[in-house]
Amino acid sequence: MKIAVLPGDGIGPEIIDQAVKVLKALGEQFEMEFAPVGGAGYEASGHPLPEATLKLALQSDAVLFGSVGDWKYDTLERALRPEQAILGLRKNLQLFANFRPAILYPELAGASTLKPEVVSGLDILIIRELTGDIYFGQPRGVRECPDGPFKGQREGFDTMRYAEGEIRRIAHVAFQAAQKRQKRLTSVDKANVLETFQFWKDIVTDVHKEYPDVALEHMYVDNAAMQLVRAPKKFDVIVTGNMFGDILSDAAAMLTGSIGMLPSASLDANSKGLYEPSHGSAPDIAGKGIANPLATILSAAMMLRYSLNRVEQADRIETAVKAVLASGLRTPDIYESGCVKVGTSEMGDAVVKALM
Ligand code: NAD
Ligand code: IPM
Ligand code: MN
Repeated sequence: MKIAVLPGDGIGPEIIDQAVKVLKALGEQFEMEFAPVGGAGYEASGHPLPEATLKLALQSDAVLFGSVGDWKYDTLERALRPEQAILGLRKNLQLFANFRPAILYPELAGASTLKPEVVSGLDILIIRELTGDIYFGQPRGVRECPDGPFKGQREGFDTMRYAEGEIRRIAHVAFQAAQKRQKRLTSVDKANVLETFQFWKDIVTDVHKEYPDVALEHMYVDNAAMQLVRAPKKFDVIVTGNMFGDILSDAAAMLTGSIGMLPSASLDANSKGLYEPSHGSAPDIAGKGIANPLATILSAAMMLRYSLNRVEQADRIETAVKAVLASGLRTPDIYESGCVKVGTSEMGDAVVKALM
């Protein structure tokens, strides 16, 4: 089993170190090869996704990814910015299905932004389409505004688009995921305003015919954002487009106590995947040794479960994370009085120690 390990920027290397430590402690030999990506890729070879890094990712059984980005690259031309690395990996590896499970560990109920009775037992799965939408649509850029009151001025523009097959394949993934859970799927759109998302809604409705055992509900994204922070347990599986899924999953993260708790899996049609925390490179805390590594460690568990067929090892990691939380250890983002505050590597060490 070959794992491409891409630490990236900011807190990326710090949190990846912890996940690698945990993988090594499982007692199985995984072949792990490291490569630079994002700002680190740019510094090493002039491109955020160096050719050798992409090649390694393509040749590996799975990719374990930290995070990319730093404010200092914000003035670079877009193609050279760190974020292009993760977008390029998703596109090149055809990782169209992004699973972001928002699960509240009971010990973190007090760290959630919502009252314990509203979130206790929370277990929702956000499935975000990852290779389409306004993220990749062409044309885009800055041009002369062709009409309206601002005619002749410069305007920025992007293109929102979804091909039928693109919607169908993510809808199938979402219905099948719902079948394995509570059989409830909420498709989030903005069909009241956007043509792309009326089309999305129509196609999801059509795919639903093949899954009569799943209850399908359609919801506008603004309402979904409100319901997520009002009564999140109403949701089982949420399926949505690239942009809405990006925003809703960050909001859902806080229900679980911290963005540092939300892992993710980005899968292709054959369950090959890239695994990364849902958060970014957190430049504000990088280098301080205080980032929460659990989202990354839990992403490694998802990698073992979904791509490497090591379900028992995945269970071991998840059980160890539960034990560490039960023992009261907390990084600052999930800290509450009465708990023991620890740093990034102490948290990683504790998970290693708790492995059974
Ligand atoms: P961010 O997710 O990096 O950080 C948002 C806030 O959450 C910050 O206050 C940060 O300190 C905190 N945070 C994030 N992860 C944490 C962790 N593990 N433990 C404790 N606190 C944590 O989002 P941002 O600040 O908007 O973006 C920073 C950079 O990261 C940007 O360049 C952005 O483009 C990039 N980014 C990359 C990815 C990715 O690599 N997949 C994802 C999101 C953002
Ligand atoms: C994420 C990030 C990325 C996205 C950025 C860094 C391109 O926010 O993985 O959630 O928008 O998909
Ligand atoms: Mn995001």
